[in-house]
Amino acid sequence: MATPASVISLRTRPQTLQNYLLAAERAARSDGARSLSWIVSAVSSATKGIAARLRTAGLDGALGAVGQVNVQGEQQQALDVIANELLIAELQSRDGVVVLGSEENDELIVVDEADCGACRYAVLFDPLDGSSNLDVGGSVGTIFSIYEVAAGAEQDLQAGRHQVAAGYVLYGPSTIFVMTLGQGVDMFILDPAVGNFVRAGEPLRIPARGRSYSVNEANLDSFPAGYQRFLAECRAAGYSSRYAGAMVADVHRVLLQGGIFMYPPTAKAPAGKLRLMYEANPMGWLIEQAGGAASTGQGRILEVLPASLHQRVPVALGSRDDVTALELALAAT
Ligand code: AHG
Ligand code: MN
Ligand code: MN
Repeated sequence: MATPASVISLRTRPQTLQNYLLAAERAARSDGARSLSWIVSAVSSATKGIAARLRTAGLDGALGAVGQVNVQGEQQQALDVIANELLIAELQSRDGVVVLGSEENDELIVVDEADCGACRYAVLFDPLDGSSNLDVGGSVGTIFSIYEVAAGAEQDLQAGRHQVAAGYVLYGPSTIFVMTLGQGVDMFILDPAVGNFVRAGEPLRIPARGRSYSVNEANLDSFPAGYQRFLAECRAAGYSSRYAGAMVADVHRVLLQGGIFMYPPTAKAPAGKLRLMYEANPMGWLIEQAGGAASTGQGRILEVLPASLHQRVPVALGSRDDVTALELALAAT
């Protein structure tokens, strides 16, 4: 009797994030790859928990401030704390995780050295990005950045170009996981019926030039002159303005459709507002891996030598030609 054909053809069966990570691990053929995919998988598990808590946040009292400020002087929202706890709980028990760094913790957390052999990783994250959007049902995200750590160097921060994995999760109408292992950028969408992230389409490539910019224009008067001139050029060229107030949501649009996202120096935040280690570096590397550019205005974000976990940096990232045009405007001042 002939073998019946599979109802779901292998060719059309959607690839889950777990299968993708296993395939990447097999291709890398190293123990390091095994614990790295295990760690990315832990991040994905935590983000499913965060997505679930976000969905019911208005029903179970999880909205609102908790009455404490974090190390940057910002009011912590209950969901900032919940998201942080979910990530730490998933990550600290994974083999290979030796250091955790979070927006919501003052210092790096050095995890007691379990049995991690040669594969030692630091995971830095912004547990909930855009938390001022929470109370109005706006999009928020999670951002993560992973490095290898040498023995004895647990407290050392490395430049973004040394990242070995980075990504974000966007909690919007659907929950979207975007990541890179340094071989391009892939996107996955959470199928809530089965609880899997499922790969969506081909690797992402950002258009060389976009038609919109994303910046908090209320700060325009205190941007350095080059930014003001660049934005005037964009307006003259017919660009649109798009700003969600959550870096993950704004960068996601830029990654898919092109254009430029910026958080320039302002009077209130002379070094910019965004944090190098868990916002600018992972988002900058993703954009570069999709063929775009990520700049401080003066040079590549990924080359900045970090001095502290929470340091801030001016950010401009997106389509290559748009970022180059900004750099030229800044150099001309
Ligand atoms: P977080 O909620 O993690 O502190 O990050 C907020 C950041 C970022 O998501 C966003 O791009 C920016 O703050 C918005 O700042 P403004 O309100 O100053 O525009
Ligand atoms: Mn953030
Ligand atoms: Mn945050």
